[in-house]
Amino acid sequence: MSALRTLDDLLAEGVSGRRVLVRADLNVPLDKQTGAITDDGRIRAVLPTLGALVEAGAKVVVCSHLGRPKGAPDPQFSLSPVAGRLGELLGAPVHFATDTVGESARSTVADLADGQVALLENLRFNAGETSKDEAERGAFADQLAAFGDAYVDDAFGAVHRKHASVFDVPARLPHVAGRLVLREVEVLSKLTGAPERPYVVVLGGSKVSDKLAVIEALLPTVDRLLIGGGMCFTFLKAQGLEVGTSLLEKDMVDTCRNLLERADGKILLPVDVVVADAFAPDAAHDTVRVDGIPSHRLGLDVGPETVAGFSAALSQAKTIFWNGPMGVFEMPAFAAGTRGIAEAITKADAFSVVGGGDSAAAVRALGLDESSFGHISTGGGASLEYLEGKTLPGIAALEN
Ligand code: 3PG
Ligand code: MG
Repeated sequence: MSALRTLDDLLAEGVSGRRVLVRADLNVPLDKQTGAITDDGRIRAVLPTLGALVEAGAKVVVCSHLGRPKGAPDPQFSLSPVAGRLGELLGAPVHFATDTVGESARSTVADLADGQVALLENLRFNAGETSKDEAERGAFADQLAAFGDAYVDDAFGAVHRKHASVFDVPARLPHVAGRLVLREVEVLSKLTGAPERPYVVVLGGSKVSDKLAVIEALLPTVDRLLIGGGMCFTFLKAQGLEVGTSLLEKDMVDTCRNLLERADGKILLPVDVVVADAFAPDAAHDTVRVDGIPSHRLGLDVGPETVAGFSAALSQAKTIFWNGPMGVFEMPAFAAGTRGIAEAITKADAFSVVGGGDSAAAVRALGLDESSFGHISTGGGASLEYLEGKTLPGIAALEN
């Protein structure tokens, strides 16, 4: 990897009075009923970059996606609440444009004074942002690039997307990596380089199919791979166990069996799980051994013996990467597994990295101390693809 130009390089050139277009990942979770921001971690994560630009007197134009609108305006995915929260955190109002590259955006950018911040409306309200067609993406990138004299990518959570604002705009403007992107890449490159051993990875979440590529990539390099979450049931099935009505990816059972055969004992699976009558916060539930899952019940968390076993492995570790909850942590009855593993990670005398939107949100939702982890990544898919060794379009674009 060639060295990235950084925000400090741009600041050294001087940005006072210049328009700096910042791609951020302000894709924060919103409450389904009230629309309120339930976790502002991704907004706080870009403050160092935005603060430095404000202080240096730049006209700061921030753009981001939120959710997955289908290339047209959709009010439930408006960035307007994010503009409000960002303004509170910056301690100065954020000028919000009600479109991305239209009349509102043009006048909002034109009216910015030095040291002020604007936020454009959701990039994905425009079909060009995510288009597979280079020309369509390019045309949108031209419009965006017109708002900046320089471009800063601080959207680590989106660097694995070949989207106009991530991939095509940096080809059109002088470009640098923001503080967050730089920190994320520095940390993750420690894991792909020569991690201090034992190197223990904990994977959870619902689907094996989402994690298959990273499991394949990690198996040769890790010392232990601990698997919980919904995806553990497909592995348990591959061991010949019955999993009741638990989440099961039938077409992945053979793949899991093959992984277990090749894993040389590195993969640790749950020995007990919490099974419930239904996927509901108040469902009747019990802890059972994994060879005793009743046919009519479904597993929603790992059990205490599993937490103890996984914690023992984690206590030996010198490097830890964790992605994906161990159970349905949003429901208190099924949160103990995720909490137990998170606590074991904070207690280990290890460099620990939490990968991803969901796991990072879990850390905060469970009220754990963020500073007791080595690094909490803002990118779920992005950090996994980085560990897989894939070329990330947003990083590659910064290197050119
Ligand atoms: C995320 O939340 O994973 C990032 O913001 C990227 O969003 P996406 O998966 O919709 O591209
Ligand atoms: Mg994603």
